[in-house]
Amino acid sequence: MATRSLNILGVRTSVYASGHRAGVELSVPIGALRRGGNVDVQPAPPSVPLTGSKLAEQVAGINWYHTIDLGNGVVTPGYYDHTPILPHYALPERLDGLRVLDIACFDGYWSFEFERRGAAEVVALDVQRAAEIDLPWRTRAAMSEEELNRPFGAGFALAHATLGSRVRHVHCNVYDLTPDKFGMFDLVHCGDLLLHLRDPVGALMRIRSVVRGSAIFSDVIYPDLDRHDGLPIVQYNSGGGENIWWRLGSIALGRMIHDAGFDTVHEEARFRYGPRGYPPVMWHAVFRATP
Ligand SMILES: C[S@@+](CC[C@H](N)C(=O)[O-])C[C@H]1O[C@@H](n2cnc3c(N)ncnc32)[C@H](O)[C@@H]1O
Repeated sequence: MATRSLNILGVRTSVYASGHRAGVELSVPIGALRRGGNVDVQPAPPSVPLTGSKLAEQVAGINWYHTIDLGNGVVTPGYYDHTPILPHYALPERLDGLRVLDIACFDGYWSFEFERRGAAEVVALDVQRAAEIDLPWRTRAAMSEEELNRPFGAGFALAHATLGSRVRHVHCNVYDLTPDKFGMFDLVHCGDLLLHLRDPVGALMRIRSVVRGSAIFSDVIYPDLDRHDGLPIVQYNSGGGENIWWRLGSIALGRMIHDAGFDTVHEEARFRYGPRGYPPVMWHAVFRATP
């Protein structure tokens, strides 16, 4: 077993990895989890929106996951740029009058997009520290208290203040989501979360409980697992250091959404993409579902 350093949702840590799992295949998902964890002191949300060099300085101090246009020529250098893939999501041009929930919002790209499209209310949900995510036992054991408890959300806070956003950021684990907490939603978006969860179907059931309109799910898929010969359509990824628990075929993802109580489940789009500046090697599927 070799020791290597990883970013688990942005917390740089050393974990043990067997040689065969340290290959190229997993390097993309590892990157997919990068968070502002390289920043030792995260900036507090500014009380007044920043501009000019002050804003540039704060933006540069954050390890962004999302590429967000903050206006006046400032664009966050996100690990992913979702704007080129936005058309795949077939979002309505306007969301006027709708209550929208963005689950696992990270720096807020999707939340701010829903707000831009006129949603009456956007609730952006995420956990606040690595200790709250589904870490494999050994990964958690190898992390210090400081690493486990370092606050998330600096990117969201800065973008929120700069954009003058009214999105409501809430702290909640997807497993704890109930209608009592935040009410029901016309549109729920959950992007690239399920593969990071030990219990994706349990999480989907919680999500189902707050949808009164429709839900959009996107996740990494492995089309080689889309088979009809009775052989497995899901692979256990062994948790590993990267907390990518599952490799799902599109068929499996659709069935999971259905088993969680959604009656209509439709694969909206399938496309390849990758981190900014890298070849688009990862397959991605977008599902729309209604209860
Ligand atoms: C790969 S990022 C996806 C970001 C965004 N949803 C998107 O599609 O661009 C994973 C996000 O899931 C969040 N997350 C991980 N475990 C979670 C949990 N149990 N409950 C809620 N959010 C969680 C992380 O904090 C992070 O913001």
